[in-house]
Amino acid sequence: MAAPTWVQLVYLLCAVGFILALKGLSGPRTARAGNLVGAVAATVACLLPFLYLDLDNVLLMVGAIVVGTVLGVLGAQRVQMTQMPQMVALFNGVGGGAAALVALVELEEFLAYADLDVLGWDTWAITAFTVVVGTVSFAGSVVTFAKLQELMTSRPVVFPGLPVAVVGVLVLALAGAVWLTVGGQSLWLGFVLALLGLAFGVLLVLPVGGADVPIVISLLNAFTGLCVAGSGWLLGNTVLLVGGTLVGASGTFLTLLMANGMGRSVSGILFGALKGGSTLGSTTASDRPVRSGTAEDVAITLAYADRVIVVPGYGLAVAQAQHTLRELVDLLAERGVRVDYAIHPVAGRMPGHMNVLLAEAQVPYDQLREMDRINGDFPTADVVLVVGANDVVNPAARTEKSSPIYGMPILDADKAKQTVFLKRSMRPGFAGIENELLYQPGTMLLFGDARESLTEVLAGVKKL
Ligand code: TAP
Repeated sequence: MAAPTWVQLVYLLCAVGFILALKGLSGPRTARAGNLVGAVAATVACLLPFLYLDLDNVLLMVGAIVVGTVLGVLGAQRVQMTQMPQMVALFNGVGGGAAALVALVELEEFLAYADLDVLGWDTWAITAFTVVVGTVSFAGSVVTFAKLQELMTSRPVVFPGLPVAVVGVLVLALAGAVWLTVGGQSLWLGFVLALLGLAFGVLLVLPVGGADVPIVISLLNAFTGLCVAGSGWLLGNTVLLVGGTLVGASGTFLTLLMANGMGRSVSGILFGALKGGSTLGSTTASDRPVRSGTAEDVAITLAYADRVIVVPGYGLAVAQAQHTLRELVDLLAERGVRVDYAIHPVAGRMPGHMNVLLAEAQVPYDQLREMDRINGDFPTADVVLVVGANDVVNPAARTEKSSPIYGMPILDADKAKQTVFLKRSMRPGFAGIENELLYQPGTMLLFGDARESLTEVLAGVKKL
């Protein structure tokens, strides 16, 4: 049944809302408003069917909406910033699973009530696509969640016969989808496709190393978008079709941008470990000597510099040291030191992680300099203050062909006169590899939690 015109108009407005939301999310100043517009559009789109359709099981649906809303709100309120990627993975996974369930229900409806000759091959093909891609996204997202939440190892899981299993499941799923499209329509085939999709999702993500998991989350997010668009097509619901397509397109771009920022190809991330190469290095800490200093040493080094570049990383988020860092930078600026923040595109654990953290501490946006815009300045810097970062300044990315981060563009901290690292130990960063910069004569280490170290350095600068 075609929706009344007023409903179609409201759906159209919701779709426009999604597009405006994406536009808003592309800049830090407009992101909050964009988020709000998207949330309002999604809520209106969810409520609309209750207003114009004669629905069965309304109580059951309202109950499901209440449970989903409570879980979503509680989850989003309680999650730590550093756990955001796994929360996104989980939310994304249930979206894919829901789209697959919608397609299975529609399959049953088509088989029970429709005149099968009237339905074109495209309906069956989209049903198969939505079931397979939705279940791949669900199962893959659950595995990425388990890896990031450390419920299982974050290292690549590879076993003999894995490549054969991956190819075998894929071929079976494709064959089943073709069979459903050309005439073998039945509910049991739909369930078989769902099982194959679940198996493929698990097998696809198992061999991916922890450092690459956020990129796979973004890829699965794009998959979810596409299968939600598929379920919109099956239901004849324009807003699902538009919303899903937007998620599919933006998720694909984000995946490519993240892979680019890490100097990786998407196929290398997904299938690199299958070919025998692990995407993570060793996690042993070296016991070679380093030059460590006190908070007073760091305070003097910073306070008497002309030009300081701050490199924030994952450890800044762990320590929640962004406010203290901002106070220190403001104090240095008052003393006439020129300070900028150098932002690496994959610093932290999610896209824009450092931008969000520093924005939370009200750091003016013009102090944040993207990698390409600041790399030329490092040779002129007196001091680079590396706060909880490691891989993004590791020169092995330029020189060590065997390194898992080889080819990743880095911030040229090693080209400055001096580098000060704030970290707790000699443990490596996420890629699990040694950083030669820590052992250079021009490098000083201040060991400790970044927030405590920065508090002491701040007190030291105040005394000078
Ligand atoms: P990392 O290389 O992971 O280094 C983080 C550093 O912070 C470590 O050296 C750690 O050393 C230190 N640290 C942790 N907690 C701390 C605390 N409380 N106080 C002080 N220091 C602390 O981080 P990065 O340089 O930001 O690089 C990001 C990595 O994540 C890259 O490998 C990147 O490829 C990967 N990655 C990022 C993304 C996105 S989109 N951002 C996506 C996927 C993968 P200690 O343990 O010794 O303190």
